[in-house]
Amino acid sequence: MSTSISPLAAVESVSEMEMVTERKTGSLVFAVNGERFELPAVDPSTTLLEFLRTQTPFKSVKLGCGEGGCGACVVLLSKYDPVLDKVEDCTISSCLTLLCNINTCSITTSEGLGNSKDGFHPIHQRFAGFHASQCGFCTPGMCVSLFGALVNAEKTNRLEPPSGFSKLTVSEAEKAVAGNLCRCTGYRPIADACKSLAADVDIEDLGFNSFWRKEDSKEVKKSKLPLYNCNNLICTFPEFLKKEVRSGMYLDSERYNWYSPASVGELQNLLKVNKGTDMKIGVGNTGTGYYKELERYETYIDLKHIPELSILRIDQTGVEIGAAVTTAKIIEALKNEIQHDFISRNEIVFRKLANHMEKVASGSIRNTASVGGNLVMAQRKNFPSDIATILLAVDSVVDIMNGHQLERITLEEFLLRPPLDSNGVLASVRIPLARKVSPETNTILVFETYRAAPRPLGSALAFLNAAFLAEVSPCDTSNGILVNHCQLAFGAYGTKHAIRARRVEEFLTGKFLNAEVLYEAIKLVRATVIPEDGTANPAYRSSLAAGCLFEFFTSLIESGAEVTNSVLNGYKNNSLVKQSKLGQNYNQFHSDKIPTLLSSAKQVLELSKHYYPVGEPITKSGAAIQASGEAVYVDDIPSPTNCLHGAFIYSTKPLAWVRSINVNLGPHPDGVAAVISHKDIPEHGENIGSHFSFGIEPLFADDLTQCAGQRLACVVADTQKHADRAANSAAVNYGMENLEQPILSVEEAVERSSFFEVPPSIYPKPVGDISKGMAMADHKIISAEIKLGSQYYFYMETQTALAVPDEDNCIVVYSSTQVPEHAHGIIARCLGIPEHNIRVLTRRVGGGFGGKVVPSMPVATACALAAHRLRRPVRMYMNRKTDMITTGGRHPLKITYTVGFKSDGKITALQLQILIDAGTSPDLSPVMPCNILTALRKYDWGALSFDIKVCKTNTISKTAMRAPGDVQGSFIAEAIIEHVASTLSLDVDSVRNLNLHKYDSLKLFYQNSAGEPLEYTLPSIWDRLAVSSSFNWRIKMVNEFNRYNKWKKRGISRVPIIYGVSLRPTPGRVSILKDGSIVIEVGGIEIGQGLWTKVKQMAAFALNSVLSNGDGDLLDRMRVIQADTLSLIQGGMTAGSTTSESSCEAIRLCCNILVERLTPFKKRLQEQMGPIKWETLISQAHLQSVNLAASSFYVPDTASCSYLNYGVAVSEVEINLLTGETTILQVDILYDCGQSLNPAVDLGQIEGSFVQGIGFFMSEEWLTNSDGLLVTDSTWTYKIPSVDTIPKQFNVEILNSSHHEKRVLSSKASGEPPLLLAVSVHCATRTAIKEARKQLLSWSGQDGSESMFQLDVPATMPVVKELCGLDIVEKYLEWSLGCKK
Ligand SMILES: Cc1cc2nc3c(=O)[nH]c(=O)nc-3n(C[C@H](O)[C@H](O)[C@H](O)COP(=O)(O)OP(=O)(O)OC[C@H]3O[C@@H](n4cnc5c(N)ncnc54)[C@H](O)[C@@H]3O)c2cc1C
Ligand code: FES
Ligand code: FES
Repeated sequence: MSTSISPLAAVESVSEMEMVTERKTGSLVFAVNGERFELPAVDPSTTLLEFLRTQTPFKSVKLGCGEGGCGACVVLLSKYDPVLDKVEDCTISSCLTLLCNINTCSITTSEGLGNSKDGFHPIHQRFAGFHASQCGFCTPGMCVSLFGALVNAEKTNRLEPPSGFSKLTVSEAEKAVAGNLCRCTGYRPIADACKSLAADVDIEDLGFNSFWRKEDSKEVKKSKLPLYNCNNLICTFPEFLKKEVRSGMYLDSERYNWYSPASVGELQNLLKVNKGTDMKIGVGNTGTGYYKELERYETYIDLKHIPELSILRIDQTGVEIGAAVTTAKIIEALKNEIQHDFISRNEIVFRKLANHMEKVASGSIRNTASVGGNLVMAQRKNFPSDIATILLAVDSVVDIMNGHQLERITLEEFLLRPPLDSNGVLASVRIPLARKVSPETNTILVFETYRAAPRPLGSALAFLNAAFLAEVSPCDTSNGILVNHCQLAFGAYGTKHAIRARRVEEFLTGKFLNAEVLYEAIKLVRATVIPEDGTANPAYRSSLAAGCLFEFFTSLIESGAEVTNSVLNGYKNNSLVKQSKLGQNYNQFHSDKIPTLLSSAKQVLELSKHYYPVGEPITKSGAAIQASGEAVYVDDIPSPTNCLHGAFIYSTKPLAWVRSINVNLGPHPDGVAAVISHKDIPEHGENIGSHFSFGIEPLFADDLTQCAGQRLACVVADTQKHADRAANSAAVNYGMENLEQPILSVEEAVERSSFFEVPPSIYPKPVGDISKGMAMADHKIISAEIKLGSQYYFYMETQTALAVPDEDNCIVVYSSTQVPEHAHGIIARCLGIPEHNIRVLTRRVGGGFGGKVVPSMPVATACALAAHRLRRPVRMYMNRKTDMITTGGRHPLKITYTVGFKSDGKITALQLQILIDAGTSPDLSPVMPCNILTALRKYDWGALSFDIKVCKTNTISKTAMRAPGDVQGSFIAEAIIEHVASTLSLDVDSVRNLNLHKYDSLKLFYQNSAGEPLEYTLPSIWDRLAVSSSFNWRIKMVNEFNRYNKWKKRGISRVPIIYGVSLRPTPGRVSILKDGSIVIEVGGIEIGQGLWTKVKQMAAFALNSVLSNGDGDLLDRMRVIQADTLSLIQGGMTAGSTTSESSCEAIRLCCNILVERLTPFKKRLQEQMGPIKWETLISQAHLQSVNLAASSFYVPDTASCSYLNYGVAVSEVEINLLTGETTILQVDILYDCGQSLNPAVDLGQIEGSFVQGIGFFMSEEWLTNSDGLLVTDSTWTYKIPSVDTIPKQFNVEILNSSHHEKRVLSSKASGEPPLLLAVSVHCATRTAIKEARKQLLSWSGQDGSESMFQLDVPATMPVVKELCGLDIVEKYLEWSLGCKK
């Protein structure tokens, strides 16, 4: 039986590092940041993350996904080997690692590297100084991932690095964070912070930072970096624990229900005793990341202490790998053992196997993930494994243990068998070495592996993987290649398990390779690799199989002569492959074969001293504590006594009666305290979860659920895990009687006239006379259609709140929200109590992007309702899946357009019909028409008319996401321009150019927001970027590239944007304390956008006039404090890109008041005392009762509060015609920031939002089932950009444009507009596809002229490949066979 323990009672913490405590024999003992922990009892299903977050002060370890897919929870695990007296360090994902697994180990978290008390680690300092932390939620995990790479690099026997640097290489430094996701920064600055420690870094390659000035010499730059000293490495394994390890430690298995057998015999006995019980055997527990196991087993058996299962031996007969060996260890061994003589023929196999394994999951997963676990997941549960496929290709065999029987079978047989029963154990895997051949034989071993996946460096399951091994003989007489033997394995394509393509193998064996043979082989592959019903993108996957085979054998065919000659010249070693043309071909086909390195990026920022320190690129306020993990987010606030935890139960049906909700308490009643639903709303309260100007959304469905994903109830339990478990297993009984069919599409909404009303005051106005415009046209495109899908926020911190009941029916709610004031009002309405009984507090938000506006309110409200009802604190930290399913996202659209244009491409009229899928509630959706049209009007359409409907459907309510509507509007404009250009066979850039606004048309389309003629900078930045990005020259280079490359095509595109924003009223308060320190309160919330930093700069600027020489700039004496809805009312919302500037203005007004009070006072004082310092001035002011607090409420002038932002981007991409993969080679951005308040912050906003836009346009697929329930609901299926998918070269110039009198210190917005620029990546991809299609047409005997096509959003690999031709290799072979005839 397992025992639950009450949290703190279980922990005994001893802080003296050197102390060896007498411990109860067999207790779980480990160290965290040098502190000793001994747990006398623990629930064995407890993860390390759960323990660290709930029972220690180390909150740097963040929960981002709970499934191994984001890296927010990464910690360093250190193990001590007492025999070798050696410490082994590796990073692990603490969300999947079970606590019992770390017995006798030491854990280091980001706080353990350094902190605000003991001093920050250079890693923290560099993350801060390179502006690599915005919301900061991902930063501690990033820092530890980098630290792990650093520690291990320092252990190598590489040459000593230059002083101040480590032994890391640039490539390793970049890869260190390949498994860590960041939704804010766009990764470029993170990569720079990592690279700054690498021995081989060229310091000039590092981007903008706060350490040095551009003009500094290399040496000065190096000297200004925070010092890293490789001799001062942090001790990752404390001495006291070493002593304990040496004294021999073991876990009392019975007490913990955790067994660590030390021999096969022990394991067999355990399996026998526990047969038929609820038992789990395993190693790293990473499988739970995929299968989301929430249950607790009675018994756990850990396999990694059994020598036979941990063996890793390479000898003349092959490689023996114990099932418990981790993927990381296998990679290391395969790479290191290549030197052995007997390996030489197999070197290529080893190297490629290791390279492929390096793309399995991420580093922190590979460090604990066992090969046995992987193969058993593949065998038992059809996991789309890479390892099974690549081991299958090399004829591996496995040893299976069942009771006392040990059976050796081939891996193929194993995979084909019925699922291994729960008592069966995979003991080991054996890779045989390839047969020896006599030196006279001209046989060559060729081996290659393939994986087509959304991320080149791993952290993404493959659409298909494959591995091919072939023994070929070059024939010196015919210059041909004979296939003596081949082994072809395919997997992950929607098959139960990896397969050997036997028919293809048989067909090829004994054949001379030529196009005809290959064509037949590909036909056979097509007939073999058939995804099962229900697999996504089946045709794409099967085309990938054809592509892989083609690539493998074409390379051999094309290099036939060279191979023959090399062999004849006595060069028979298999490294032939890498040296020959064949090897080069491989690299040409596979960009992922070359380590992905980001090229140096350029940032051009003009700094202005005009409003010093406003305009300075000051490091983000709090960046260092974010890096060390000390920054407190809502879920980091310690739970008050008696605190309960909530989890939502949501509907899986679109329109249904909710008959009952049964929470299955199962065998473990697990502390469920209540199930809160609409029935628990107090008598005078309201069932309200959120509200915006246009209507409300209920907190919970009442008897009728309106959409899949709607909240039905909230389970409240003693821990978050128990609440999640109960919610997950809840059974909802639905009824369908007397209900209409749900409306699940905008077309159905139109049919049934289901719309939300858009108030006429915010409905956009048409421009010009559409009939006249159409009459002027030489050509028309009539009723063309575009569809756009949704996008999920993917903030790293999911929705969270903590509600604490207070005296007299009051309640305090800590909420991660962009709208505390609104949440406040909703909670009061829901509970039916006055607003002065509620206090909402928000310090910082771990990423918002609009998702913490409306969707945050029901979370705060549900916690408040449960707390109010149960009279106990209640908190909720939503798991990623529930967050994704219940929060909606960007609005999907259907657009139909008719456009009229002249023969030269000048557009004369555009008529649009737009259907917006708003979901079940109005939310903010009625503003969408206005937003869409604002961005769409970036071109002079001549006349513009439209009919826009906001459709009410039975799908989850959609809400604002960064650049809501604008990004879609900008895309629609580009799609139309591309369509016009392609109809006229004109160059699309010239059509864009022709239709750019002149000031007069700008004024017509944007009216007052257009501002003055001088403020319209778009035409000049359009031209300027063409020059600075060498646009015209690069177009020629792209054409050249396309002429000479069959399987890769490039495209380049330049795109402009116009983005309208408006300022809103904002409050502020500045208080000067007795010691001269300053407290600032603003309505805006710090969501990572640097609001606090800009506000501090503004306060320092505005107070400057009362400072004396030597006072400095006061920045260090300021603190911006959390938003408190009772302290500062009317905070409004943090959204729309303008909160920073309006908060700055509110603070300037406060400071002006203080300056007004202090100036005469200072003058009087100076007359008495002479020059006085700030501290003296303030202490005297206190003494003499000067009011040192000032409040303001900034209300922008309605006539000038709206303005336009301009930017241009040039993107160049390369597509792989065999896989559909798009690589972004270079992006150049020029963005007009007015007079930037802080160029470092604005640069971060530009890069970060651009990369978020790349996600929308290229990779983030938001897919639902037929009931409208989201199915891409995890990091496994929803792919945001990662460090390996951003532009290889990313150049940004911030234009410091002239003074804008009506703006806040002439500044302009940067938060959302640059997201729109990412459409340039999509347009460039389209251009590349056009080239591919031209080539395809020419192979089909057509003249290669352009064919019309539409590129969907997102342009994922399957989408791109389909447009390039799913049968492209067959077409090519047919063409080349035809040419030969
Ligand atoms: C985020 C993430 C990404 C991933 N990406 C990839 C990928 O791209 N390609 C890929 O191939 N894999 C991928 N994996 C899968 C990963 O390789 C496996 O999760 C891992 O190898 C399992 O090993 P483990 O020791 O953690 O197994 P555990 O989780 O401990 O066990 C997994 C299952 O196997 C059983 N089991 C374990 N060992 C044995 C044994 N010796 N005998 C019998 N039963 C056993 C367990 O009971 C359990 O049911 C990914 C995993 C994660 C978490
Ligand atoms: S929380 Fe562990 S990897 Fe995401
Ligand atoms: S800073 Fe990386 S997620 Fe916000």
